[in-house]
Amino acid sequence: MVKFSFPSLLDIVNPRLNQFRFQDTYMSNQEDLPTQTGYAVLNIPGKDPIKLPILKGTMGPEVIDIRELGKKGYFTYDPGFVSTASCMSRITFIDGNKGILLYRGYPIDQLATKTNYLQVCYLLFKGELPDKAQYAAFENRVKRHTLVHTQMESLFQAFRRDSHPMAVLCGVAGALSAFYHDSMDIYDPQLRELTAIRLVAKMPTLAAMSYKYSIGQPFVYPDNSMNYAENFLHMMFATPCEKYKVNPVIAKALDRIFILHADHEQNASTSSVRLAGSSGANPYACIAAGIASLWGPMHGGANEACLRMLQQIGSVDRIPEYIARAKDKNDPFRLFGFGHRVYKTFDPRALVMRDTCHEVLDELHITDNPALHVATELEKIALNDDYFVSRHLYPNVDFYSGIILNAIGIPTSMFTVIFALARTIGWISHWNEMQTIKDSRLGRPRQIYTGREMRNVKAMSRR
Ligand code: CMC
Repeated sequence: MVKFSFPSLLDIVNPRLNQFRFQDTYMSNQEDLPTQTGYAVLNIPGKDPIKLPILKGTMGPEVIDIRELGKKGYFTYDPGFVSTASCMSRITFIDGNKGILLYRGYPIDQLATKTNYLQVCYLLFKGELPDKAQYAAFENRVKRHTLVHTQMESLFQAFRRDSHPMAVLCGVAGALSAFYHDSMDIYDPQLRELTAIRLVAKMPTLAAMSYKYSIGQPFVYPDNSMNYAENFLHMMFATPCEKYKVNPVIAKALDRIFILHADHEQNASTSSVRLAGSSGANPYACIAAGIASLWGPMHGGANEACLRMLQQIGSVDRIPEYIARAKDKNDPFRLFGFGHRVYKTFDPRALVMRDTCHEVLDELHITDNPALHVATELEKIALNDDYFVSRHLYPNVDFYSGIILNAIGIPTSMFTVIFALARTIGWISHWNEMQTIKDSRLGRPRQIYTGREMRNVKAMSRR
């Protein structure tokens, strides 16, 4: 049989890619693995004791390795995965009790003030901050992928004019899988990196297109002479007949919002991406799964829900009514922008966001924003109220981000889209990492079945 040898697809796509090839070394060294510190012994009456290894990562609590339990005929029950580590990861670390958030070991406040979003993307995906030359090459690569296929434009036309931009983004991000499927080999590290570059480059374009479509304006193409945040503002607010003058303070604030949202360990949307990816699915389709999961008001949708709530409260004198509703267990209402599954002292992102919020409002000379008045007062009241204090419910990142975005002129329905845009690098970094970890397996949780026992089907005449 004649064997054909094809040039590597990457070499066809872009011969210069080889220059930036990513070293696929994750989890290949012994020091990347957790150490075993001992055993926990599980005693089930009438059964032999079960020895379960206790593992310790670089930082964070010890973890009981329960993988053997299933073989012994037991499952564990943990709704919401409150006590479950689903994977090993080297990307992000959170200590919720101390209010610590690290990307690849770097504190979030330092990254927010000393780097920019594209440097953070490089860091999350590759593991180290870029030097000058690496950054220039990376930025250049991202810029060369900002355009989307013109056929994508016709996809937008299929959506209702008044579609929520998250609905549109979910659809068009998933549709990228149709454009880049045959060329996708998830076991090829260079193609995985190209996927990450494409996503980081195209998400602002798609996000801005979702907005332009919803207001009936023509799409504005990316301008690669601008930096990442400036370009997004340009695509959002310029028109073919009028340029948009980007305010550098606003662009910097937006870039900081991107950094603060870039990753957050194994949250609902990242876990959705990992779960979808565990079956070997196309990565763009996995990102669409992440976008869907992010949309809900308990997760990324909280920024939109929070601003709507502040507007609904409307004035400071109505705050007690809403505080009472948030405490009432018969009322499903919650104070959006308060509380977090992991942070129990403060959300370190919220501290940076709070400062940025004041910078933006000062720059724009906004002193009489009603939502801001309500937010400031609500924060004061909730932080002194026993219900919130005893449950460790503090303002989270979404409490302030909505106020900033609103001041910049971003419509409320776009808030979660911006979160999705920024989180895309986190999702794809986790997806990439899971392809390289030996322990990665198809995600397949079990359940406690509480339905009917086995029974026979009766003929319809006897039912
Ligand atoms: N308002 C009123 N009560 C609350 C709130 C809130 N925002 N958050 C939690 N509680 C109460 C809850 O009712 C429960 O009370 P009790 O112990 O009396 O039953 C207790 O606090 C613990 O809440 P939980 O629902 O068991 O906590 P969780 O870890 O499952 O939920 C959360 C975390 C973020 C979903 C929740 O705090 C919430 O719904 N917050 C509002 C939505 C929000 O702002 N989400 C954005 C999170 S930050 C962005 C991101 O990372 O996604």
